[in-house]
Formats: sequence, C-alpha cells, structure tokens
Amino acid sequence: MKIAVVGTGYVGLVAGVCFAESGNDVVCVDNDASKVRALSKGKIPIYEPGLEELLRRNRSEGRLTFTTALPKAVRDSAIVFIAVGTPQGEDGSADLQHVLAVAKDVAKAMNGYKVIVNKSTVPVGTAERVREVIRRETTHPFSVVSNPEFLKQGAAIDDFMKPDRVVIGAEDDRSKEMMLELYAPFTRTDAPIMVMDCASAELAKYAANAMLATRISFMNEVANVCEAVGADVDQVRRAVGSDRRIGTSFLFPGVGYGGSCFPKDVKAMMRFAEDSEYDFRILKAVEAVNVTQKTRLAAKMKKHFGTLKGKTVAVWGLAFKPKTDDMREAPSIALIESLLAAGAAVQVYDPEAMGVAKKHFGSRITYADANYGALKGADALAIVTEWNEFRRPDFDRMRSLMKSPVIFDGRNLFAPAQMKQNGFTYYSIGRR
Ligand SMILES: NC(=O)c1ccc[n+]([C@@H]2O[C@H](COP(=O)([O-])OP(=O)(O)OC[C@H]3O[C@@H](n4cnc5c(N)ncnc54)[C@H](O)[C@@H]3O)[C@@H](O)[C@H]2O)c1
Repeated sequence: MKIAVVGTGYVGLVAGVCFAESGNDVVCVDNDASKVRALSKGKIPIYEPGLEELLRRNRSEGRLTFTTALPKAVRDSAIVFIAVGTPQGEDGSADLQHVLAVAKDVAKAMNGYKVIVNKSTVPVGTAERVREVIRRETTHPFSVVSNPEFLKQGAAIDDFMKPDRVVIGAEDDRSKEMMLELYAPFTRTDAPIMVMDCASAELAKYAANAMLATRISFMNEVANVCEAVGADVDQVRRAVGSDRRIGTSFLFPGVGYGGSCFPKDVKAMMRFAEDSEYDFRILKAVEAVNVTQKTRLAAKMKKHFGTLKGKTVAVWGLAFKPKTDDMREAPSIALIESLLAAGAAVQVYDPEAMGVAKKHFGSRITYADANYGALKGADALAIVTEWNEFRRPDFDRMRSLMKSPVIFDGRNLFAPAQMKQNGFTYYSIGRR
C-alpha cells in the first residue's frame, strides 16, 4: 500500500518505519526541514532503540522516503496518517491546531479517494472536526479514521510491531477494510484488532493513559503512607501485584510521572469531560498527587541538610524514563529547578538526554560525561531515572568521589540495608 505519514516525531517516525518494514511504500512528511534533511541521510533526531537500523534498511531498499512536500505525498498515497503533536493548550485541553492545519493541507492536495487517519492523541469529536475541515476544501470522496497509538517510548518498535491491540475507529466499510489489510501483518500473533466508532477509539486512548497514570499516583500515595507508618512499599507492591485482578506492571513508586503524554492527556481528559459537564474527580486527585510527588525528593534533601544553599547535588538520570532522550515534563526538571532555587549547585549525567538537557538548562548546571564524573565533590546524589547502568555501580568509587555519602534514590534501585553496609546515608521512596 502507498502511505503518507505526516509528522515524524516519536509516533509518526516509528509508524512510518514499521509500515515500510512490512512492505508498504511510505513517505514521511514533516514541516521541519532540518529534521527531514537528517532523516533523508539516515540520521534520526531522537533516541529510540532499534529505530535507526530499521530506518536505514527500509530507506536503502527504497520503501521509505522523507519530504517536506505534503501535496505530492498526499497525491501519491491511498492512506494519509496525521501524527503531529497535540500539546497542552492554555486551558488544559489538547491543542488541535497542528492536526487541523494538516487536515486542511491534505484536503487541498487530494486527487481522489483517500483515507485520512488520526494517529495523534485527540479528544472525542476530533474525527468529526477533521471531516468538516476536509469537506470544506474538497469534493473528492474520503473517509476519516481514528487510530490512536499505544506505543511506549523506549520500546516503541516492539510495541508497534507486536501491539497488545490495534484500535480502529472507522465508520464505513471501505476504510475499515483498508485499515484491516494494513494492520494484518502486525496482528498475526492474535493481537486483537478492535474496530469501533471514532468517539470510542478517541476515548480509549485517553482512558488507557489515565488508568496508567492513576496506578502510578495510587502507588506513590501507598509509598508515602508506607513511609509514614513504617512499612516497606517493595513488599506491599509484590503482595498487591501478585493478585491476578491487579497485575504487577505500573506499580513502582517513584518521583512522579512525566513525559509528553501522561501529564497532558490526564489534563485533556479532565477538560473534555468538564466540557461535557462531567467532573472527573479521580483524575484531579491523580494529577495533584503527581505534582506533589515530583517535589518529594527535594523535600527530603532539605530536611536532611537543613539548607541546600551552597551544597552540590549530583543528579543521575534526566530523561522522563530510561531508553529515551525525551525530557518533556520530566521529574528531573522539577527537581533541578527547586535545587537551583534553593541555592544548590547541580551536576548531572544521563546516558542519552545530555543534549536535550543542555538546550533546556544551558549554563545553569554542570554536565558530566559519565555517571561517576557527576559525583566529584557532591554533597549528595539524587537518582531520578532508572537507567540500567545505574543499578550496579562501584560504591567504593562513589564514596571516594563524593564529599559526603548521601543518596536520595527516587527509583528504589538499591536495598536500604545494603546501602547502610556500604557506608551511605540512603533515602528512597516508601522504604525505611
Ligand atoms: N510520544 C509518545 O510516546 C506517544 C505515544 C502515543 C501517542 N502519542 C501522541 O502522538 C502524537 C504525536 O506525538 P509525538 O511524541 O510523536 O510528537 P512530536 O512532537 O515528537 O512530533 C510531532 C512532529 O510533527 C511535526 N509537525 C507539526 N506540525 C506539522 C505540520 N503542520 N506538518 C508537518 N509536520 C508537522 C513536528 O515537526 C514534529 O516532527 C501526539 O498527539 C501524542 O500525544 C505520543
């Protein structure tokens, strides 16, 4: 099939590459010319395991191209995916300006029947708004489909190639058949393709993210209670998660959720519920808990030191989670900002996000070129992202580099008793 994917971010690029990998001819469109130039040379602007190799292979085999020229890409394609950003608007709602602008440009370029697929995360009713925009611009026949994306950054290729499910909101047989054909190679291992109305497909994406965010905030509250009453959240989590009705994933307490999706999607869902006169009370609590959780590590530091003025704090991990360089809404940002505001100096290390961090913080913090480098002369270490390479460090070396051996572990990487034996004052989340 001939496919165009508009927007080459985490979602569009992965979708484009994976559709090409299953034999389709794919043209990826972006209005960022420098991004398109880099991609055309086989360079990816983001860190996502496995992506570069697949991109290079499909490019060299001629199934994958990149362009800024949307009209030609649309004319040459049967299916056009919209995978542009839907950032948080001022009132918390999803900002649809990019989606609607692309829909308009697609409509203007149409030269016959097209299936226009919304892959961006969009509030209920957006498929209908996209239909209206297109109808105004063209007399060619078309279908609008909702196909929300559930991939996780850091495991995006695997999630796309072997999805838990594919959700398709389609309201006519022609577009439904085309989408089923397109996704058939990805669902051979019995992953269900769920065809439904567009509104349900749109809502399914928000409900899934809201549920995951709820689990995180819930467990963070359980961890905070553990600290208050003297229980161990690791033990509690294992006991709770082994109930098959609950399951073990997404029950790890930490420093709050971040990233480009959960924070904005939770807010957008509250907002469109409110617009329909529904007060989504649980989500309000989920968000409030998350905001507070992001401040807990800094609060523990202030309590330990009395004042952070003049202290040097090392930070391991900046990305909002491991295996990505994405720092959008990362808990590290909230922590570093509050350390700086309290008068501390900050020395950071992250295996992939240093470039992104330099753009964000500039010269306000110091950048180390390895995890141990960040520890030199530090009064304390804060661990914010659970990269694998932080899990088994040389504790003797750490102690010898640090001014005082104090660790504030926001990801519970180490056993408290062992850390005491290793000579550290060790604070973690929900444990004594
Ligand atoms: N990142 C994730 O893990 C993830 C997972 C599932 C769903 N989503 C959703 O998918 C959508 C895209 O997310 P992302 O993280 O890939 O975004 P992103 O910000 O990484 O990428 C968006 C891309 O769209 C391009 N773009 C914007 N306007 C354009 C236009 N008019 N024409 C052409 N290109 C344009 C930008 O230059 C950018 O390259 C969002 O709605 C997001 O909520 C994201």
